[in-house]
Amino acid sequence: MHHSIMHTFRWCGDGPVRASCAGVSTPLEQVFLAAHDDLPREAPGSEETTALLLRLAGDLPERPRIVDIGCGTGPSTLPLAAATGGEVVAVDLHEPFLRRLRTRAATSGLGERVRPLVAAMDDLPLPDGEADLVWSEGAAYIMGFDAALAGWRRLLAPGGVLVLTEAEWTTTEPSPGAREFWDRSYPGMRTTAENVAAAERAGYTVQAVYLLPDSDWDAYYRPLACRIATLREDGVDPAALDEVGDEIAVRERFGAEYGYTGYVLRPR
Ligand SMILES: C[S@@+](CC[C@H](N)C(=O)[O-])C[C@H]1O[C@@H](n2cnc3c(N)ncnc32)[C@H](O)[C@@H]1O
Repeated sequence: MHHSIMHTFRWCGDGPVRASCAGVSTPLEQVFLAAHDDLPREAPGSEETTALLLRLAGDLPERPRIVDIGCGTGPSTLPLAAATGGEVVAVDLHEPFLRRLRTRAATSGLGERVRPLVAAMDDLPLPDGEADLVWSEGAAYIMGFDAALAGWRRLLAPGGVLVLTEAEWTTTEPSPGAREFWDRSYPGMRTTAENVAAAERAGYTVQAVYLLPDSDWDAYYRPLACRIATLREDGVDPAALDEVGDEIAVRERFGAEYGYTGYVLRPR
């Protein structure tokens, strides 16, 4: 089984998704999860990018109601709560991430305004029309861009905005090596032009599109690479660790051919 960020964080119930959707993780999956445990973030991004996308989202009500979907340990949740003064419902299916988020929120004095919610992103137990801002960094791919845009729209209050980030091809003719990796990891990955068109077809006005800088990939991969090195020193199976590091190596070689893009979308 090939592994990448795209595979690691697709949960079903309380474990990574597999064909059977049941059973104990394989040793490789365990290595993968050990490598990803307690990283500062689980996808490319940065506080600067979260702040920029928030500015691009435009005016929000005072103390906006925010839903952060696939929030992980909260690299976007906490800055959003801090910057807006609003309340953030932080949704993830992996409870250990939400436990860490709860601790981080309390330490930052934001515990009162961050409400962790264990739920599946395609079946959210949240009422229609109650969010001024729906946010999702590096997680919409789990449902698929189109399904996320269709499924999350009902959460938005009148005037509400959807902000998400998505992995995309930045070329229409990727190298075979890049295509081979991403076809296995995220076969549905599209170009920015394709996603802009898809968002418009789905009934959104595309208010802003922002290609995340390389430094946002470093912010994700550097701590991951350190973790892999430590696990190597600890004698963890080198072949399994090579698989974990594969995604970083692909980025080093072919990084100009794909990126992560932030979208600010408003229902028409
Ligand atoms: C690539 S991580 C991104 C996490 C975080 N937004 C960040 O930027 O670090 C994807 C997140 O989606 C969560 N996730 C996976 N499948 C999910 C599902 N079906 N419903 C809700 N969350 C899910 C994972 O636990 C993980 O925290």
